[in-house]
Amino acid sequence: MFPEIRMRRLRKGKIRNLVRETSLSPNDFVHPIFVDETIEKSEEISSMPGVFRFPLSEVAKEAREVAALGIPAVILFGVPKHKDAKGSSAYGEHEVIQEAVRKIKAELGVELVVITDICMCEYTDHGHCGIVDLEAEEILNDPTLEVLGKIAVSHAKAGADMVAPSGMMDGMVGAIRKALDKNGFEAVSIMSYAAKFHSSFYGPFRDAADSGYSFGDRSTYQMDPANSDEALREAALDVAEGADILMVKPALSYLDIVYRVKHELELPTAAYAVSGEYSMLKAAAEKGWLDEEKTVYEALLSIKRAGADIIISYFAKDIARRLK
Ligand code: PBG
Repeated sequence: MFPEIRMRRLRKGKIRNLVRETSLSPNDFVHPIFVDETIEKSEEISSMPGVFRFPLSEVAKEAREVAALGIPAVILFGVPKHKDAKGSSAYGEHEVIQEAVRKIKAELGVELVVITDICMCEYTDHGHCGIVDLEAEEILNDPTLEVLGKIAVSHAKAGADMVAPSGMMDGMVGAIRKALDKNGFEAVSIMSYAAKFHSSFYGPFRDAADSGYSFGDRSTYQMDPANSDEALREAALDVAEGADILMVKPALSYLDIVYRVKHELELPTAAYAVSGEYSMLKAAAEKGWLDEEKTVYEALLSIKRAGADIIISYFAKDIARRLK
């Protein structure tokens, strides 16, 4: 009790460094890369200043830059030339992501972990994350699982180290694990978007990946932001289906979920600091209302403190540069 106990004793000078409980390292981060088959030169995304879409010809160079900063992994998102109702350009042998993986692996091999997002929304003309019954305007769960398995196998064949299913279909992790194992890819790991919420913070990503939708919204498969126990149930099911890493998405508004998933399930846990989290800090900094460097550091540190072992962030390169 005061006056014997004085918390301020440990807040002076370098003593602060000695008692610091959390720190950031480039090793904590995964950097997202958008690969766009429809462009010849890299293009900045208007709602995400400083983030670019890259043509296949520039992907390896970008990946080399990420690796040189000491960041261990990238996660790839594709923008294909061709979209149809079945998302067929998601699983061919020579489509945008498969080619991007080959290029990065040829250049960097084991120097960089290549993670691929497994979802249909970037490849379907209706923009939903699964096979759709267009008449009923319904996203069909079980027919989608087979396609997700095919996508995962095609990415693994190209050399992906890890796949990250993000479509929130029931049974997706089990279906992908089975498909990978059946094709000899037992060593490819799964980072599941286990608790992915139906969030308005994905807005800028939909510009970036050109993946808006033609009807309804994603609330029949993504989670209600109001729910926490349900997130734990989702995550526990993914563990049972064979997930190696659990992800919570978005990050900042869901730190309670990150904390619970990490401490109740005890798996390596990732948090995805999504496009809207990037854009709001960038916009406030552009207006001169917030100090970008300091607020970005604080936001990312808080994600780590909540329990994330891995942070997927569009700020990964910036932060790694600063930590060097
Ligand atoms: C695809 C996917 C989305 C994001 C990652 N994978 C968009 C969505 O579900 O609408 C969002 C990433 C971000 O906002 O940075 N299913």
